[in-house]
Amino acid sequence: SLAISIGALGIGLYCLDARSAVQEYVFCPLLRLATSAEDGHKLGIKFLKYGLAPRLFSDHDDEILQVDVFGKKLKNPVGMAAGFDKEGEAIDPVLDLGFSYIEIGSITPEPQPGNPKPRFFRLPQDDAVINRYGFNSSGHLSVLSTLRVRFERLLSANPNATNNSFRDGKLLAINLGKNKTGDEIEDYVKGVQNFGPYADVLVINVSSPNTPGLRNLQSEAKLTNLLKTVVLERDNLPGELINPNLKPPVLVKIAPDLTEEEIKSISIAAKAAKIDGIIMSNTTVQRPVKKMITKSDVVRETGGLSGKPLKEISLRGLRTLRKYTKDSDLVLVGCGGISSGKDAIEFAKAGATFVELYTAFAYKGPGLAAKVKDEIVSELKKEGKTWMEIVGSDDK
Ligand code: FNR
Repeated sequence: SLAISIGALGIGLYCLDARSAVQEYVFCPLLRLATSAEDGHKLGIKFLKYGLAPRLFSDHDDEILQVDVFGKKLKNPVGMAAGFDKEGEAIDPVLDLGFSYIEIGSITPEPQPGNPKPRFFRLPQDDAVINRYGFNSSGHLSVLSTLRVRFERLLSANPNATNNSFRDGKLLAINLGKNKTGDEIEDYVKGVQNFGPYADVLVINVSSPNTPGLRNLQSEAKLTNLLKTVVLERDNLPGELINPNLKPPVLVKIAPDLTEEEIKSISIAAKAAKIDGIIMSNTTVQRPVKKMITKSDVVRETGGLSGKPLKEISLRGLRTLRKYTKDSDLVLVGCGGISSGKDAIEFAKAGATFVELYTAFAYKGPGLAAKVKDEIVSELKKEGKTWMEIVGSDDK
């Protein structure tokens, strides 16, 4: 019976390990079978929030993964994209899974329910999803109170913390949205005022396909005006709570469905407004059906497509963006269909200083960040380079 106990303990530990194959090939598919996409998402957040999700046994990162960005260090280049933890409920559990960056939100000023259900669809054959959530958000006050509780709790334990993430080498980004009927400048101004003190990075989201008119904010005149206003507001902040001498960098998150001309205009606006960087990209309204396996009507659901079929589209957008920004200090962040270390490296070489992912995490489970990092390390070692040495190396 001792042997049985030891065996059971072994199996138990194995199942608790976020990296074990049972997560990717048994638990995640079972969760998918048992739930709708939206319930699965909610359950995932609750599991993480209440400590019921598997853990990593170590959060050590190889030094070659280190990223220099915004005058700070990230211990690795793998972040969790916006839309997974919209309410900031699972910041620490997500960081514990090995991500160096988490972007909570999008958060709207007033609470709003988003679009009617169903509004989230799985396309498992393509490792993709389509969503038209439409910024369901509990609103600024609710998320602020969640962040305040976390801040107070962690500050007493870490009085010398230097980041709002409360971790060395990790950053907390806050993604700002606008209400469906909100003002296209004022909603973001409120976001900067309310969340600036709690953020290591602020993200202006003008690229969700599910809020009518939102993507029009990407036009050069509107974007220049919006970003200048936001930067002024950021400069007027009293400083980050964790460090009154710091003010959060501002990024704008853009769509992958832009022409070269439009990407050029966005680069001009970003430089004119002196923001700090650009995230390429949000979900796509395109349906690259020729490259997709799913043949059912789900493909035609309205909304943004993310996951594998988005990768080539985002990467192409990133390359174009790089062309128009490499003469500047703008930091580019890669996002869209990334599911492996090799994907991350492609985005880095195309100009991304770090990357973010979401959909692949939903399919591959809690060990994904660790696996992506392992693969990046082995690829970098083959090339004899560090992460920072490959960033933008396609230019040469
Ligand atoms: C998103 N994404 C997103 N982005 C954003 O800026 N604000 C948001 O509220 C959301 N919400 C959201 C919900 C769901 C269900 C998904 C799948 C995605 C977009 C996300 O952050 C990312 O840009 C894209 O999903 C592309 O990356 P992946 O998922 O292909 O790795």
